Amino acid sequence: MLSVRGLAKRYGAVQALAGVDLDVRPGEVLAICGDNGAGKSTLIKIVSGAETASDGEMRLRGEAVRFASPHDALRRGLATIYQDLALAPRLAIYQNVFMGAELTRGVGPLRVLDKPAMIEQARGYLAQLGSSVTDTTRAVATLSGGQRQSVAIARALRWNADIVVMDEPTAALGVKETAQVLDLIRALNAAGKTVVLISHNMADVVAVAHRVAILKQGRKVIDRPVAGLDADTLSHMVMAGREVA
Ligand SMILES: Nc1ncnc2c1ncn2[C@@H]1O[C@H](COP(=O)(O)OP(=O)(O)OP(=O)(O)O)[C@@H](O)[C@H]1O
Ligand SMILES: [Mg+2]
Repeated sequence: MLSVRGLAKRYGAVQALAGVDLDVRPGEVLAICGDNGAGKSTLIKIVSGAETASDGEMRLRGEAVRFASPHDALRRGLATIYQDLALAPRLAIYQNVFMGAELTRGVGPLRVLDKPAMIEQARGYLAQLGSSVTDTTRAVATLSGGQRQSVAIARALRWNADIVVMDEPTAALGVKETAQVLDLIRALNAAGKTVVLISHNMADVVAVAHRVAILKQGRKVIDRPVAGLDADTLSHMVMAGREVA
């Protein structure tokens, strides 16, 4: 689905990424782990078009790509959900879902926003994700953290993204909301989407990911299936930067 080769990024004297090769396979949930400063966010920013690489190449569905912006990546079917979610809290759920790609009806000068269609379709995306929210005219500010994640994911569905990248989606959430977001990820994956999940929470990784890549000081040190690993072993691998017994 997505592959990067020799991806490098230097910020002045800091080598944030030092030549990373990574393949994301269609339909999988891939977790990217690593200590603070390992290069996870840098990798994701380059993949999503928010930053440009100093070196290396990237292919999406086999085709060489270089995204000019996150919007460019979104148009090509790669959606990134940042930790701050980039939602407009005072606007309604449906307005957030359709932001930048509103539905209209009518022709020429008579063209108007198709509010009923957007309200209804936004409801459909949330239902597809198993979200408990049904009234999409509610302001995002009135939603819980987990429900806000569902709005951000619904936005990715609206763009028909087939690969969804999430940077620490459960970092600010409580136990119940974290469980909701893990369910969202499962629903997204069951709908055929490929998911890349950056996480510091090894229990989350073990719960939803098929494969894990571990970064250390800008290099990929582990890339393996999650099956057979528990959260403790995975934590040790992140700390050691190598396989542990
Ligand atoms: N804009 C920047 N300017 C200078 N250095 C940067 C910049 N962005 C990242 N870095 C450095 O690059 C390295 C990798 O940072 P990155 O944010 O990718 O780490 P991370 O794995 O996401 O860490 P965390 O788990 O803390 O989010 C760090 O040493 C960081 O200080
Ligand atoms: Mg980060």
